Amino acid sequence: MIISAEKYNKLPEEYKKYFEEFRNKHPTIKPLSLIQYLIKLVSRKNSIVLDPFLGSGTTAIACLKLNRNFIGIEKEEEYVKIANTRIKPFIQQTKL
Ligand SMILES: C[S@@+](CC[C@H](N)C(=O)[O-])C[C@H]1O[C@@H](n2cnc3c(N)ncnc32)[C@H](O)[C@@H]1O
Repeated sequence: MIISAEKYNKLPEEYKKYFEEFRNKHPTIKPLSLIQYLIKLVSRKNSIVLDPFLGSGTTAIACLKLNRNFIGIEKEEEYVKIANTRIKPFIQQTKL
């Protein structure tokens, strides 16, 4: 799971439950720092980033952290659930 223990501990209980329920089982999850680096390299703030192979949602999280919009496509229902679970806390954070 790609959030720090400090951030995890601050999550509402309902999100912690999701994290436990949907541990990231994606076999090829990419490091968030790598994806953030690549997104900064090829886009500007408020750009739209398309990831047609979203997997567990790393690109979407990177976009939220870097003020980019995103469109993610993923064919496996299980990975869509994982991605949604991972993305939710970051959407919550951007609204605070
Ligand atoms: C290399 S993984 C992406 C991993 C992602 N970057 C992450 O950090 O979790 C590629 C993903 O593309 C999905 N995929 C493959 N073919 C697809 C298609 N035609 N349409 C949508 N998703 C597809 C696979 O299910 C897989 O989850």
